[in-house]
Amino acid sequence: MKNTILTLQKRKQNQQKITMLTAYDYTTAKLMDESGIDCLLVGDSLGMVMLGYDSTVSVTMEDMIHHSKAVARAAKSAFVVTDLPFMSYHTSVYDAVLNAGRLIKEGQAQAVKLEGGQAFYEHIKMITQASIPVVAHIGLMPQSVLALGGYKVQGKDYKHAKNIVLDALAVEQAGAAAILLECVPAGLAKFITQLVNIPTIGIGAGADCDGQVLVYQDMLSMYDGISSKFVKSFASIGEQMKQAFKLYCQEVNNRQFPATNHEFSIEDNVIEKLKL
Ligand code: KIV
Ligand code: NA
Repeated sequence: MKNTILTLQKRKQNQQKITMLTAYDYTTAKLMDESGIDCLLVGDSLGMVMLGYDSTVSVTMEDMIHHSKAVARAAKSAFVVTDLPFMSYHTSVYDAVLNAGRLIKEGQAQAVKLEGGQAFYEHIKMITQASIPVVAHIGLMPQSVLALGGYKVQGKDYKHAKNIVLDALAVEQAGAAAILLECVPAGLAKFITQLVNIPTIGIGAGADCDGQVLVYQDMLSMYDGISSKFVKSFASIGEQMKQAFKLYCQEVNNRQFPATNHEFSIEDNVIEKLKL
């Protein structure tokens, strides 16, 4: 059965955890869906892990739609959330609603995510009013890397922690369906999770969020760009892939691959006749 926004809300009410991973392509998304993941996030992190940019700011609406469609086709049960990329919602509430609509209509997403709290109250409200569920991403907001001067933990002192709490309350008030908390102290994430009625999904936000999310290339140790304290390696897939690629090169070079059982045969005498 297909998960919906209600599935996530029920999980919070029943104190069951919500599982989310990023996905950007059909094959991987299908493997995750078949593994019982609750939600797939088509994150703009695809700019880094799929496209090789060093931040997410270059990602376009077309990039997001392209990957979102592929993931949506694989998600038989997982709930699909797609990121609004940098500058697709900052310019006006109108642009925010229009581009959120594109991620739903063209990208086949079930919800959109945007980075912002109090400052994006109106954007979240109007997207929600257009019947599009919004996940509000607060705490560390990677699209703000140029203004922040780097990726660091947010909300360690009273002033900054209070601002993040105000962000959480504002986005809930605006109608957000869920909150994504990135890179905030565990105690603050716990406080916010207890304070709001909508589910919180954490990354680098400790164990007390209603759910957890990781970038799949991080949890599979496939990507060696930026590494974070909050990432756990669940398998060394990057190393396994390299081993397989090396073995393939070796076997082609020393003529072990392809073997006769990988070949197609031709009808008798055809080659003889071709020689005439
Ligand atoms: O783009 C992304 O992968 C994200 C996660 C880090 C939450 O927004
Ligand atoms: Na993102």
